Amino acid sequence: MLMSQKYGCTQHQLQRTVYFNTPLAKMLSFFVIIVLCISRVSTFDTKVSQNARSPSESYLISIWQNRLYLYSAAALVFGIWFSLKLVLRKKSFSKDVGPWVYKAVKSNDSPDRDTSVHVSGVKIFYGSQTGTAKGFAEELSEEVKTLGIPAEVIDIKDYDPDDQLADECTNKSVCVFLVATYTDGQPTENAEWFCKWLEEASTDFRYGKTYLKGLRYAVFGLGNSVYVGHYNTVGKNVDKWLWMLSGMRIMTRGEGDCNVVKSRNGSIQADFVAWKVRFLKRLLALAKGEKKSCSGNCKTGGSCKNKRKDGQEKGEEEEEEEKAALQNNSSEEDLIESSSDEEDSGLQDEKNSGSVVDMEDLGKIMNSAKKAKSKEEGRGDGQMVKLSKLNGVKKIEDDGERREMITPALRGALTKQGYKLIGSHSGVKLCRWTKSMLRGRGGCYKHTFYGIESHRCMETTPSLACANKCVFCWRHHTNPVGTEWRWKMDPAEKILQDALEKHQSMIRQFRGVPGVKPERYEEGLAVKHCALSLVGEPIMYPEINTFIRLLHSHRISSFLVTNAQFPKEIRSLVPVTQLYVSVDASTKDSLKKIDRPLFKDFWPRFLDSLRALGEKRQRTVYRLTLVKAWNVEEMQSYSELIALGQPDFIEVKGVTYCGESSASSLTMANVPWHQEVVAFVQQLADMLPQYEIACEHEHSNCLLMAHTKFKVDGEWWTWIDYERFQELVQAHEESGGQQGFSALDYMAKTPSWALFGANEQGFDPADTRFQRRNKTKDISGC
Ligand SMILES: Cc1cc2nc3c(=O)[nH]c(=O)nc-3n(C[C@H](O)[C@H](O)[C@H](O)COP(=O)(O)O)c2cc1C
Ligand code: SF4
Repeated sequence: MLMSQKYGCTQHQLQRTVYFNTPLAKMLSFFVIIVLCISRVSTFDTKVSQNARSPSESYLISIWQNRLYLYSAAALVFGIWFSLKLVLRKKSFSKDVGPWVYKAVKSNDSPDRDTSVHVSGVKIFYGSQTGTAKGFAEELSEEVKTLGIPAEVIDIKDYDPDDQLADECTNKSVCVFLVATYTDGQPTENAEWFCKWLEEASTDFRYGKTYLKGLRYAVFGLGNSVYVGHYNTVGKNVDKWLWMLSGMRIMTRGEGDCNVVKSRNGSIQADFVAWKVRFLKRLLALAKGEKKSCSGNCKTGGSCKNKRKDGQEKGEEEEEEEKAALQNNSSEEDLIESSSDEEDSGLQDEKNSGSVVDMEDLGKIMNSAKKAKSKEEGRGDGQMVKLSKLNGVKKIEDDGERREMITPALRGALTKQGYKLIGSHSGVKLCRWTKSMLRGRGGCYKHTFYGIESHRCMETTPSLACANKCVFCWRHHTNPVGTEWRWKMDPAEKILQDALEKHQSMIRQFRGVPGVKPERYEEGLAVKHCALSLVGEPIMYPEINTFIRLLHSHRISSFLVTNAQFPKEIRSLVPVTQLYVSVDASTKDSLKKIDRPLFKDFWPRFLDSLRALGEKRQRTVYRLTLVKAWNVEEMQSYSELIALGQPDFIEVKGVTYCGESSASSLTMANVPWHQEVVAFVQQLADMLPQYEIACEHEHSNCLLMAHTKFKVDGEWWTWIDYERFQELVQAHEESGGQQGFSALDYMAKTPSWALFGANEQGFDPADTRFQRRNKTKDISGC
């Protein structure tokens, strides 16, 4: 209406113009004009001789006499109109979707033509030191473009995999990695961060095994076979890590060899050209929408899902099957491009060879290793034990007779999961929140609740062993289990020193990484907090008290989490900044189901541990993990457990899904929504007059209930004055334990953004929130 007024015409006029402009209307008018012209010419010839007839009779007769001209004119007009239409349609279609898809559709004989875009573009990443890979990337890009497919060359150092890689799963791009290998199998400088990130992600359950599902990729490695043992390691690894995250390899990995004697095609350039030809062929097939499945001739024989029996229909989800086939067949050697047509082979052996050992298998490895050792030594598990002087944990008297907690198999598996192992029973790992805060993207929920500076926090454990096999344990039972200390023991000084060194070296790898704040990087090198919660049960380590004292002497705060199975050890523990017990369930039955404890008397131990916590004077916390349909219904029992231990704080968080595992039956359906956690906490708070909801960390699905003694003049003091704590604990030590202190002596005021109900929902406004593509892959922290 507005438009018609603006241009001074009525809607009716507009409609008429539109009708007139349709191709059919144009054709009809053209036809009428031609008919009129022809008839006029022919009637002029006969006018003179047929003067006697009436004008209408003459007109009709002339039309009849010239009917042949009319038919021809009509046929001519229709022919011109039809050809014009065809040309116009072809032009607009090829302009919209690109000639490669157009060609694909053109060559498709199927009646229902697929007009969707199958490849939106090709991203060519290069990891190059002296320019060969970069040159190849540019060459490939040009050739891809000549096919009408957009291509982009990307220096891999300018790409942030954490932010961007998951997006490639859905944007229909194809990612190509051209990566060179250098001394000792290391990546080039520009690919260092990408490789490090990818390796960690591939073994970190928090990303999940399917993190890159949908990503289509191809790898060409550049190397020199004279470097025996490290030949093309980077290409192999990148290919393997992408695959482990469920990326879809579109063709076998290519390997370029600078060693002309051994190079398959005579030179690295020729190797690249051979691979490139195959790549372009595959790319065109993908652009046409073709799906390539395993030939069925792979080495797995019967187990290959794509192996067809005669006359058998292929499965319904062809693409899924293709993926399964890719991942199920043949061994590492088949992954390297060969002259044979049998490509798309898989990497099952890679998985089985220890890169990710199934957690249950690890348990078996541990058990059989234990049994073998016991047999060898002619004794069972009933070893001589003696109580440690340092705390109550039993330990074997003679160190010489004990075995190491970390076996070589376990060491390999844990190392591949990103743990930095220390000595024979300890470990350290860089927490995701430490990385997040280094980049100014917010800290963990302990930053919100207690003022922990996540970028200065070291997550470690002096005991990888544990006495539970919790269903939601994010280590999936890679760690050994046991009810008492029966291993060789490393001194606390050595563990701390190594932990600090390894943590610092992991922080150093963030130097210059895109997004890392220089001031946070500098601060991160000086550890201020230690979260003793990485894996296992720290309190099992017989020298845990020495370890804690050492932390405090370095002015490092201590947050210790125990599984509430060692009440004696809790009682004999020296003051820690904050002591946690995990309260994973509120009844005996659900605790057994969720924690799967090794102790037969696990329930009395659990209750006594809570009582022991109640006797502590420093800050204490219950950590409740809500597992929907498992433990959320037990409100009354929870309130009774809280009365038993009278903790200062109660953290309530929704369980984090750790991905599928044979070790856990937990599914996404067990993960409560944030609003469900809030509703649970509100109900619980109604039953506990001494507690109120103080803080919230929405992006970890976590809330904090605090005892009202931390609410001073209507304001919450849930944060910690870390300096004050260090002074108090030092005075306590110097007085030989005489000078006590309590939780209220080192509390600090909670900032407004951290409070429950604040607009920020627990996100520090000093940082910038980064939304993950997949929220279910977010994690709450230790
Ligand atoms: C100092 C040096 C060390 C190398 N180390 C390895 C190695 O360990 N394994 C390997 O396969 N290739 C190795 N190479 C070969 C390179 O990967 C190969 O020359 C490659 O084409 C270099 O690619 P760029 O020019 O893109 O950096 C090394 C080359 C140099 C110069
Ligand atoms: S989640 Fe735990 S280890 Fe990570 S920064 Fe927070 S307190 Fe430290």
